[in-house]
Amino acid sequence: MAYAPSESAALIDLPEDAPIQLFDLKTQQASIRSALEQRWIDILDHGRFIGGPEVTECEQKLAEFTGAADVVAVGSGTQALVMPLLAMGIAEGDAVFIPGFTYNATANAVLLSGGYPVIVDIDPRTFNMDPADLARKIDETKAEGRLTPRAIMPVDLYGLPADYTAIQAVADAHNLRVIADGAQAFGGKDNGRWVGNLAEITATSFYPTKTLGGYGDGGAILCQDADFADRMRSIRWHGTGDNRKESIRVGINGRCDSIQCAVVSEKLDLFEAERARRITAANVYNQRLGNIVGLQEALDGQENGYGLYTVRVPNRDAVRAALSEKGVPSGIYYDMAIHQMPAFAHFAEAGSLPECEKAADESLSLPMHPYLSEGQVHKVCDVLIEAVQG
Ligand SMILES: Cc1ncc(COP(=O)(O)O)c(C=O)c1O
Repeated sequence: MAYAPSESAALIDLPEDAPIQLFDLKTQQASIRSALEQRWIDILDHGRFIGGPEVTECEQKLAEFTGAADVVAVGSGTQALVMPLLAMGIAEGDAVFIPGFTYNATANAVLLSGGYPVIVDIDPRTFNMDPADLARKIDETKAEGRLTPRAIMPVDLYGLPADYTAIQAVADAHNLRVIADGAQAFGGKDNGRWVGNLAEITATSFYPTKTLGGYGDGGAILCQDADFADRMRSIRWHGTGDNRKESIRVGINGRCDSIQCAVVSEKLDLFEAERARRITAANVYNQRLGNIVGLQEALDGQENGYGLYTVRVPNRDAVRAALSEKGVPSGIYYDMAIHQMPAFAHFAEAGSLPECEKAADESLSLPMHPYLSEGQVHKVCDVLIEAVQG
């Protein structure tokens, strides 16, 4: 069957002077507030604040939605990255390949597991891991012989899936595992398949500003293999067996509490309608800004989940100041590549990952959420075009 891209939907109406926000959690809350209040009451009544029925409900809904074989709700996106690495027995001397332009949690997760992050450059069009540089880095690592390549951790930056077709081919050629860092990308797609179903294991985050966020910390591991999910359930409860008493493997407290799972379940019901509005806003940005600034480009068949809408501008500080003066907020994700941060500086030399460093200098995120009006999206474009063209 031919692949049909997802539908967009009309944006909401707002008064002309309504302030533009980078994210908007309040408007969304109004639409689920009474359902959430009832859920609080239910949780207070049953009293199972950890491991309540909301956890299984949330896991099942996420599996059904994404097509993943099984889902394990955990305490954060970072835990969702660390726990699979622990389960794979990643240890000292093991190389895990990560892109150099991502949130610091990707690198931290590898180091917390005991592995060594080998940093890969990005494709400047997608902002995601460059599969050609990945293959090069694996060959170099093998030739050097100090580390054993074990896993690849691509990141779906800003909501755009990494190039899993190319990355999986590299992984298969070298017998490596793939753990997708989809923390920013719930709602991204590749040829009709959701993020969560594009790699054998995907980590996502329920940090409140994510496309599917809770009201606190949380995350989930989405797996293709139900046995692996069972191991994750053991690891999230200190590595215990079914009786939850003696540890049969090393684990952590990786649990997601009942309240966060209730929030995520409730928000999942809104998700597709919200996503359709993100797509509409992004279509306007793409159309109006395509010749003005650098855009993040999806590969054939891919759909961005638009966790963030990020462009490239060479004179970022001046543009940002001009936006702010006209009431348009913006964000920078990120102004440092991983190897430019003090904690990770010894994993790659300055200048050795040129596309990551360029992205860190140029990336600028514009307001992106499902509660923007058409007038607001056009105002962002007007102000940005004026700021860039002077
Ligand atoms: C790419 C990426 N990976 C991992 C994480 C970690 O998620 P959490 O903050 O839920 O631990 C984030 C969070 O922002 C992220 O953006």
